[in-house]
Amino acid sequence: MFSFESFDIKLDTEFIGRNFVFSEEADSTNSVLLDKGNKYTINGTVFYTEKQLKGRGRKNRPWYSAKELNLLFSILLSNKKYITENPVLLNFAASLAVGNALENLYQLKVELKWPNDVLIDGKKLCGILIESTSEGNKIDRLVIGLGINVNQTMFQGSYSIPPTSVKLEINENAERERLLAEVLNNFEELLLVLIESPENILKDWKQRCSMIGDKISITEGEEVKYGIFEDVDENGFLLLKDNNDRIEKIHCGDVSLR
Ligand code: BTN
Repeated sequence: MFSFESFDIKLDTEFIGRNFVFSEEADSTNSVLLDKGNKYTINGTVFYTEKQLKGRGRKNRPWYSAKELNLLFSILLSNKKYITENPVLLNFAASLAVGNALENLYQLKVELKWPNDVLIDGKKLCGILIESTSEGNKIDRLVIGLGINVNQTMFQGSYSIPPTSVKLEINENAERERLLAEVLNNFEELLLVLIESPENILKDWKQRCSMIGDKISITEGEEVKYGIFEDVDENGFLLLKDNNDRIEKIHCGDVSLR
């Protein structure tokens, strides 16, 4: 059972998670916060659930997670100050928040994969999905959804990247409340850095991305591109170098090592 008290005592933020909504079951925490009919408007609201019925990942893939074992939540950014038109750097800040929390609490060695997966030894421990709604042509709310595998040890179904969890990595149960608070504490801090000096987020993220310099393939729908993962630019886009040393800027896609 998730204990709000154990979580709240560790939460050290000003606005992220200060409005915390707990639910036993939801379709998708992202959908709840994206739905303007739900009236969640407070900047930094966290909607948390113990079970998702229609959890989704990038490219509309399903996100499966066993009840009461993991962390499934979304963060609402509704204040203009934090809403960026390009969410890639926000993806970096969110994945760094998770990576730092895993290192601080459990001394795990984390790798970050473009644009936002959190991996340990090539296995995926956390997925992030950023979605938004617009009013006219301006984004008016951004929702950052995170699924962190914490105490689940058996995973069914087929995965493009094999899954892992904190428990599988440290061989004991992890306290979900503490991890959630640590992720939110880190995220708020990194969000402020992102606004003041995005280059620092980029620098930290690049240090954790082990694929830079490697031969990769990028799949986007039916199309597959091959090349060297040269770098990420100041906006967080991937720079792919082909055989003729031409650089192509990639905005989205699934990256694999070749
Ligand atoms: C991915 O790796 O494809 C992203 C997975 C994101 C899953 C989380 S779980 C909480 C939030 N609600 C959703 O429906 N998806 C995100």
